[in-house]
Amino acid sequence: MVSPVTVMITGAAGQIGYALAPQVCRGAMLGPDTPIILHLLDIAPAETALKGVAMELVDAAYPLVKKIVATVNLEEACKGVDVAVMVGGFPRGPGMERKDVMAKNVAIYKGQASALQEHASPDVKVVVVANPANTNALILSNYAPKIPKENVTCLTRLDHNRALGQVSERTGVPVSDVKNCIIWGNHSSTQYPDVNHATAGGKSVRELVNDDEYLNGEFVTTVQQRGAAIIAARKFSSALSAASSVCDHVRDWVHGTPEGTWTSMGVISPGGDAGYGVEAGLMYSFPVTCAGGKWSIVQGLAIDDRSRSLMDATAAELKEEKTMAEELIAAM
Ligand code: NAD
Ligand code: LMR
Repeated sequence: MVSPVTVMITGAAGQIGYALAPQVCRGAMLGPDTPIILHLLDIAPAETALKGVAMELVDAAYPLVKKIVATVNLEEACKGVDVAVMVGGFPRGPGMERKDVMAKNVAIYKGQASALQEHASPDVKVVVVANPANTNALILSNYAPKIPKENVTCLTRLDHNRALGQVSERTGVPVSDVKNCIIWGNHSSTQYPDVNHATAGGKSVRELVNDDEYLNGEFVTTVQQRGAAIIAARKFSSALSAASSVCDHVRDWVHGTPEGTWTSMGVISPGGDAGYGVEAGLMYSFPVTCAGGKWSIVQGLAIDDRSRSLMDATAAELKEEKTMAEELIAAM
């Protein structure tokens, strides 16, 4: 019999939480045979809504679910957690500067880091979704030194899936046959969606599309701006696609990427050649394969000059965010 896995979702009363919890309970994250203990965390003002979500999950009578804990107590939520999905955060309000949002969120992630390392299982796997996702994950990792660095990641799988979706739309090849796009860098509009190594139906995407102006222009900006486009269309940020991508991220990390394919994950750069020259210690999205519950950066991909400058630009933004976060923490 498979032992239950304890999954925590923070920000569980929010939009992504509402889309994600049912997917986890149906086995989309850990497979159809893995029983789940679900910990849902939110903050006191959202406590009633959180209880409502928990009531609905009970009412759905998911066979995989062994227990649901819905709480506004951080320590209780973190207890014994094997997979932590960090969705909770402070949203950008009208008139707020990037720095104001960053200040709120780095404070939250510093506090949650301590609770996770004290109360979660020692090999907890963490994926940070809340924006700024890469920098929140970096802060969490820095303030939870007992959690192995490689166990803290951030979500860029949504961007990766968006890139696959755009190639599929353009070529008519089903998305299941589009492989090996890459998201480099930050989960922000500076990210670099790269199709130089991608295939569709087994053929090179560059050759099949045969339109470099599109692939270097509109394709890149569409993927970079997709989050903003969803907000403009829905008046809320993406939720079902974010939730689905979280399940993809954790499933591939735990169960492995399919043979011959890679995915994109925000992970700590090792620096040097192994990190494609990205400064060591930045939380940067790379192409990765996963096996045995561990990710590895795909090595040896050829990088042309155009890619190099786009990869460096998004690294520069992450460096700026890191400096800003450190300054904000020092002033706390
Ligand atoms: P939402 O506002 O609907 O929900 C956020 C929830 O977090 C709220 O219920 C809020 O009460 C809760 N929260 C706030 N502070 C908390 C704390 N300290 N501890 C626990 N919970 C806390 O937002 P959403 O649409 O669900 O999006 C959540 C985050 O995910 C946002 O930051 C959004 O920008 C980000 N996002 C990231 C990606 C990605 O691909 N990385 C994609 C979509 C959205
Ligand atoms: C997304 O990519 O959909 C979100 O990160 C957008 C946002 O700002 O919440």
